[in-house]
Amino acid sequence: AQRKRIDQVLALFQLTREQLVGVQGKMRAELEYGLKRQTHPLATVKMLPTYVCGMPDGTEKGKFLALDLGGTNFRVLLVKIRSGRRSVRMYNKIFAIPLEIMQGTGEELFDHIVQCIADFLDYMGLKGAQLPLGFTFSFPCRQTSIDKGTLVGWTKGFKATDCEGEDVVDMLREAIKRRNEFDLDIVAVVNDTVGTLMTCGYEDPNCEIGLIAGTGSNLCYMEEMRNIELVEGDEGKMCINTEWGGFGDNGCIDDIRTQYDTEVDEGSLNPGKQRYEKMTSGMYLGEIVRQILIDLTKQGLLFRGQISERLRTRGIFETKFLSQIESDRLALLQVRRILQQLGLDSTCEDSIVVKEVCGAVSRRAAQLCGAGLAAVVEKRREDQGLEHLRITVGVDGTLYKLHPHFSRILQETVKELAPRCDVAFVLSEDGSGKGAALITAVAKRFHPPCN
Ligand code: BG6
Ligand code: GLC
Repeated sequence: AQRKRIDQVLALFQLTREQLVGVQGKMRAELEYGLKRQTHPLATVKMLPTYVCGMPDGTEKGKFLALDLGGTNFRVLLVKIRSGRRSVRMYNKIFAIPLEIMQGTGEELFDHIVQCIADFLDYMGLKGAQLPLGFTFSFPCRQTSIDKGTLVGWTKGFKATDCEGEDVVDMLREAIKRRNEFDLDIVAVVNDTVGTLMTCGYEDPNCEIGLIAGTGSNLCYMEEMRNIELVEGDEGKMCINTEWGGFGDNGCIDDIRTQYDTEVDEGSLNPGKQRYEKMTSGMYLGEIVRQILIDLTKQGLLFRGQISERLRTRGIFETKFLSQIESDRLALLQVRRILQQLGLDSTCEDSIVVKEVCGAVSRRAAQLCGAGLAAVVEKRREDQGLEHLRITVGVDGTLYKLHPHFSRILQETVKELAPRCDVAFVLSEDGSGKGAALITAVAKRFHPPCN
């Protein structure tokens, strides 16, 4: 009987093929809505123009600074690009962003960023150098050119005040002015998906999609200009930052959401928002697992019915723990050890259940992400009137890179749901900072970049 109750909970996370096809269809409809001038009142996939209109072609060169804010690590980078041989050298330093700063005032956040740049310049012996800078800012921005981006709203773990509705490039420039120590030429603001696409497109011209499965979940792709109503012109292509994490905010996937998803949403910094992201990305999967474990414990099916303080603590199951727990090479005894490290005292049976819960949650995440990606590649295939499409996706993010099964299930799902597309996946090795530098190089060469 106990087993049956556990299975009932796990079953909520098992999606049928029909359900996945349904998600794919709804995502497809949202991609189309988002490209319209008159945005549909219920449209939730923002489809933001990026003003990036092509791939680097190998002739870029120079020395650039890059900032990379919004993933697991905040980095400042120096990127040296040599033309011709496609050789890029990078030096970077990771800086911490304390929680008080992530959730303090906008001024404090940007002052902190500039402080980190100053430290980096000092460290590299570059003080006084006036370098062009590319800013990878991994949040939704409404852009009107490559170097202007208004923050639509914070996502993931950020919530600094007085930033939403403001231009992040201006905020950075003002913080540099306040410090009054150096001058920088901020040339481009770039989403991490776009940085990833550029990094991969530099090596593989068939790469037209950038995907992040990390702390957050998002995708960008090259769209025909004629389909982008918000931007003048019909020639060529432009990269669109879909911000697909907001998919479902109008309730369109509520049929597959569970009570645990609702609880995670309600306990988050942005309730009601980014519902698809909250079912598919690293920052939230562990939280879904935790909510299930609490429920099973309340039902007396786990941890001898005792809810420990630890289990009540938000954020204990980071992506790296889920990845370890689900690793097939790990004996159950080791799973118990990991749980113990997390402060959860488990029996052998408990550890089996925990592993199953993690598996169900991450499998659903990979399938949902696959259904979304299938919608994008099918759109690209149809738009080009092709029987068959070959396309490469550049991917980054801790969930994709660290989790033992996520990438495989994602790929299987795309194959199943988009059988006429041949989708290759390449890992972005150097993060989005390199991509931001490449875009900066392209933008410095042509001004404006899109004609
Ligand atoms: C890398 C970037 O491309 O991937 C990060 O350099 C980005 O800034 C990240 O956000 C996504 O991964 P995660 O898992 O660190 O959020
Ligand atoms: C969140 C952000 C998005 C970013 C993604 C991955 O969804 O809103 O801009 O690309 O996380 O980091």
